[in-house]
Amino acid sequence: MKDLASRGDSRSQRPHNAAFREFISSGWDETVPDAARLESADATPARRDALVRRLPGTRLVLPAGVLKVRSNDTDYPFRPDTAFAYFSGLGTDEEPDSVLVVEPSAEDSETAEATYFFRPRAGFDTDEFYADSRYGEMWVGRRPTLVEASQRLGIEVRHIEELRDHLAKDVGAQLSLSVMPGVDAAVESMVQEIRGQNGLPGGDEAVTEMAAFKEAASELRLIKDEYEIGQMQKAVDATLRGFEDVIRRLPEAVGHPRGERVIEGVFAAAARADGNGVGYDTIAAAGDHACTLHWTRNHGVVRGDELVLIDAGVEVDSLYTADITRTLPVAGTFSPVQRKIYDAVLAASDAAFAVARPGLRFRELHAAAMEVLAHTLEEWGLLPGTAEESLSPEGQWHRRWMPHGTSHHLGMDVHDCAQARREMYLDAELEPGMVFTIEPGLYFKENDLLVPEELRGIGVRIEDDVLVTADGVRNLSAAAPRGADEVERWIAELRQ
Ligand code: GLY
Ligand code: MN
Ligand code: MN
Repeated sequence: MKDLASRGDSRSQRPHNAAFREFISSGWDETVPDAARLESADATPARRDALVRRLPGTRLVLPAGVLKVRSNDTDYPFRPDTAFAYFSGLGTDEEPDSVLVVEPSAEDSETAEATYFFRPRAGFDTDEFYADSRYGEMWVGRRPTLVEASQRLGIEVRHIEELRDHLAKDVGAQLSLSVMPGVDAAVESMVQEIRGQNGLPGGDEAVTEMAAFKEAASELRLIKDEYEIGQMQKAVDATLRGFEDVIRRLPEAVGHPRGERVIEGVFAAAARADGNGVGYDTIAAAGDHACTLHWTRNHGVVRGDELVLIDAGVEVDSLYTADITRTLPVAGTFSPVQRKIYDAVLAASDAAFAVARPGLRFRELHAAAMEVLAHTLEEWGLLPGTAEESLSPEGQWHRRWMPHGTSHHLGMDVHDCAQARREMYLDAELEPGMVFTIEPGLYFKENDLLVPEELRGIGVRIEDDVLVTADGVRNLSAAAPRGADEVERWIAELRQ
């Protein structure tokens, strides 16, 4: 890291004489108060036990990840790897270059033992303290000691310099060593080196082990624990407050040359004040832009007679994110054609809600919504055949106007559990504790010559976040109005 830490040194005017060093390193209060145990520390032991049961006989290495240069000597805000965060319980920006190691305990192979390795705060008498702009406390603020980190996480904590020895100990025929791939290249090559030195295979076999690790970390997150459900609700609630701020300030967006950015900015301010930030780039899409599924450029105008589609989520400090879409009439009321499209999407959403319960296959959520939309599009005379033909594998014409999936798992990643096998995801039955979205839409692009002119340039999506309960589902985002009348009332109330 030295090369990066010394970036831009040619403009440094820092004095180097001994008297200065003595002066800057003395006179600081060295008291370290006790640190509070993280709420997540009660949930992580069970998660780690499940991990070692799933991948027995293996020491599992979970790097947090590294800082990424944004430009020259500035970095992007650090966001730890999701698997690391899940098994360590750390959130926000903790802790670049650190590593969690999980392995079967010596006494009971069904129980996990975890050790956290990181670079603790350096003493006031080090160069790092005042001269390292990337890690030094003078520059980036207070950093934890080993004891504090251990108090917070509830596990053993060691200096990162001890990582290699720990990883290599006893590795061989009885104990494999694997690493979460694609997170930290230096740790990954350290693991491969240690595998080689201890007679474990490299090449495809090592890659297969890493892929199994990644898959396990995804699949183990499919069912959320109580702590996670609380965090998801917190993320949803914060997101709704952000939407309300947006609605209050929508008039500012109208007439602004980049009104969509006004919306993006209002939501970002709420997300940053209330949580860790946005969980993904906000889609603020007025008029025809709503038909571009991943419209995040957000540099368009917002006209008074248009709909604006806002797809946004607050990520809370524990890194759980909401993913909510509301499509709002900028004027405060829907025009008849806007309402017609809106009601059709709402009916599709209601159909998915109606079938969602434990035991239903995940992919049936999409099927229920598509059934409604295909029949609507048939009624409107848009399909080149019947709704039934469209719903058959050979047809699928309705996908021209609803090209995305209706549901995805949601958690720390907006598209959570993405490495889960098909049989654990699309083909799996819903189980209590799963959290996913229901988000049908209809999108009629302004250049779509196959639809009547009055529909063109209108896109609608309604997206809610849903928890599977023992006998049905709970809409975590139910507090955000969904029906057209309710949306109009919501806007009217907030604008008073
Ligand atoms: N915001 C991305 C999605 O809805 O999946
Ligand atoms: Mn979504
Ligand atoms: Mn979304």
